[in-house]
Amino acid sequence: MVVVLKVGGSVLTFKDRRERLNPKGLRSVARALKGYGSPLVLVHGGGSFGHYYAELYGFGVRPSFEVSGVGRIRASMLRLNAMLVEELAKSGIECYTIQPVMLGRAKRLILRLLRDGLIPVSFGDVVPSRAGYKIVSGDDIVLKLSKLLGPERVVFAMNVNGVYRRLGGELLKEIGLGSEVGFSKGGFDVTGGLKRKLSIAFRIAKMGVDVRFVSGLKSGELLKALKGEEHLGTLVRV
Ligand SMILES: Nc1ncnc2c1ncn2[C@@H]1O[C@H](COP(=O)(O)OP(=O)(O)O)[C@@H](O)[C@H]1O
Ligand SMILES: [Mg+2]
Repeated sequence: MVVVLKVGGSVLTFKDRRERLNPKGLRSVARALKGYGSPLVLVHGGGSFGHYYAELYGFGVRPSFEVSGVGRIRASMLRLNAMLVEELAKSGIECYTIQPVMLGRAKRLILRLLRDGLIPVSFGDVVPSRAGYKIVSGDDIVLKLSKLLGPERVVFAMNVNGVYRRLGGELLKEIGLGSEVGFSKGGFDVTGGLKRKLSIAFRIAKMGVDVRFVSGLKSGELLKALKGEEHLGTLVRV
């Protein structure tokens, strides 16, 4: 059975500064993946890479045929992707990037890569739709992969320990559809931040998948979450 890990742009980058990597986040993810070693599909967000340019060019989840900026947003995402893949390779973790537009038909490819010991990696991106070009977040990609693969578990790694009743308040051990969560905005994010992430998490949990939130900056906790063990973070119950 496969696990899908979404590593937020909030883990890999500093979201308030353009194209600024967080080396600590990269190392922590590498360490957890090294410790895990079982079949896993990785998805990453845009952080201050994609989101920065998306915001600059006025791109969001609403589609548009005004294509100015599409090239630069995608180039920025590919830079972040390349740096992540390089960093993981240094730890002996071999990844295989799959562009999000190809995912619809990628089930066989993904299963093949997993069998061969590779980690398929995808990311948030600009994609064409009937109504125009739009940003799909890494979280959206996780939903798509969950429908495609029926994973055992989905782990959302962020730069905070999990979902709080409100930022700075109590960490919620569990959240359900009725949970009251206060959202506040942090850095560049054109795709709806935590609010949209939670609605995606609920949809995946309803499919019978074990869904968890954890800090991507704490490799020990992240590893426990990947293994399905008890950890510091938030479980989704629907
Ligand atoms: N109630 C809350 N609980 C946890 N995080 C919250 C909350 N409200 C706002 N946030 C912010 O949401 C961010 C995570 O969402 P997002 O920026 O989209 O992360 P990612 O880049 O990992 O997708 C956290 O960095 C945090 O600052
Ligand atoms: Mg996000």
